[in-house]
Amino acid sequence: MHFSGPRTLSYDFLDVAFSPYGNYWRETRKLFILELLSMRRVQSFAYARAAEVDRLVASLAAGSPPGAPVDLSEKLYALSDGIVGTVAFGKMYGSAQFERSSFQRVMDDTLRVLGSFTFEDFFPASRLARCADVLTGAAGQRRRVFRQIDRFFDSVIDKHLEPERLQAGVQEDMVDALVKMWREQDGEALGLTRDHIKGILMDTFAGGIDTCAVTMIWIMSELMRNPRVMRRAQAEVRGMVTGKPRVEEEDVKGLRYLKMVVKENFRLHPPGTLLIPRETMRSCVIGGYDVLPGTRVFVNVWAMGRDPSIWENPEEFRPERFEGSRVDFRGSDFKLLPFGSGRRSCPAVAMGVANVELALANLLYCFDWELPEGMKGEDIDMEETGQLAFRKMVPLCLVPIKRV
Ligand code: HEM
Repeated sequence: MHFSGPRTLSYDFLDVAFSPYGNYWRETRKLFILELLSMRRVQSFAYARAAEVDRLVASLAAGSPPGAPVDLSEKLYALSDGIVGTVAFGKMYGSAQFERSSFQRVMDDTLRVLGSFTFEDFFPASRLARCADVLTGAAGQRRRVFRQIDRFFDSVIDKHLEPERLQAGVQEDMVDALVKMWREQDGEALGLTRDHIKGILMDTFAGGIDTCAVTMIWIMSELMRNPRVMRRAQAEVRGMVTGKPRVEEEDVKGLRYLKMVVKENFRLHPPGTLLIPRETMRSCVIGGYDVLPGTRVFVNVWAMGRDPSIWENPEEFRPERFEGSRVDFRGSDFKLLPFGSGRRSCPAVAMGVANVELALANLLYCFDWELPEGMKGEDIDMEETGQLAFRKMVPLCLVPIKRV
């Protein structure tokens, strides 16, 4: 899939998400899973999740005068960024490089460029199309975003190359592992270079942080609009966990209703509403239409989740619809595909779901939640915005009331 935005930001398709299907993609995806996403890593980095959840709870409890609303969207972005940043980039390099507010902007710009279509994409061989992209500002925007993110990745890699780092006995993160392969030439089979590492960082940065934050924000919005569901989810977690300051990873396993809440949210609000744009490799027939090789394909999982021929009362947020049902979101049930399906599906389901579930369980366990004065559940603005990952347009502001 040769779009110009992904081409620029993926270092000419050196990443996993946008690189064409083939040997390079296969090897890089394997490496990505091994170094970042194996169950061993997901579990060994549980400490990052626990630490960031602690930090979130503390900042919500102490942040503003009692009864004042807080911008929960911002807090949840910070949490997601903290977890993914720690696991992938190491604690001190995360997005602290950017100011908090500008980080959100860089993220938005990055996703916008990755999801953009410009003249050059429609007429790849045309010089005129390239000129048109210059005139519309699309080419300049691409370069600006690329320079910003490239500087950030350079500084992350440079920090990992510092000799003191290895002596300080810090926990090895994904970049350490990649840098080691690069230096020791274990990555020779892949011809690993600095740009390859940056391509992989791009996937982690763009694929990991936004999706988890967006998911948590939608869930909290739906719970505030549906107090019955909120009460049931809180009763479950508070009944299951007693006498502890926080819900721990182990406790989450037994939270059946909470898991249904997450599933119901993925049905209504899959962050990747159209998955990642793909290209057909062979001729095929879809819905009676002949589709030629090289055709761009967008899978509208958002529409599938709201299709009345698949789901009863699809607009209703009702986690109970999954009670006793075997429908799952890991790619084998074609009616619910928030992580895609098949060879190109998301390799980070376990990590994404673990982040969302632990944070959510703690938000429900540690706090009661109220809307800002004078506001009702139905007043919560549910409009979506974005490209590639769709988020809630208006930040979610709520009043946290500390319970434990
Ligand atoms: C709630 C969390 C997440 C959701 C909903 C999500 C969703 C998705 C979706 C829809 C795709 C495209 C699948 C397709 O085209 O068929 C994808 C691919 C991908 N995701 Fe995720 N994702 C999440 C978390 C993460 C995290 C935490 C990371 C990395 C740290 C990540 C890394 C990737 C990568 C590398 C790909 C490309 C896979 C390939 O092309 O082979 N995702 N994800």
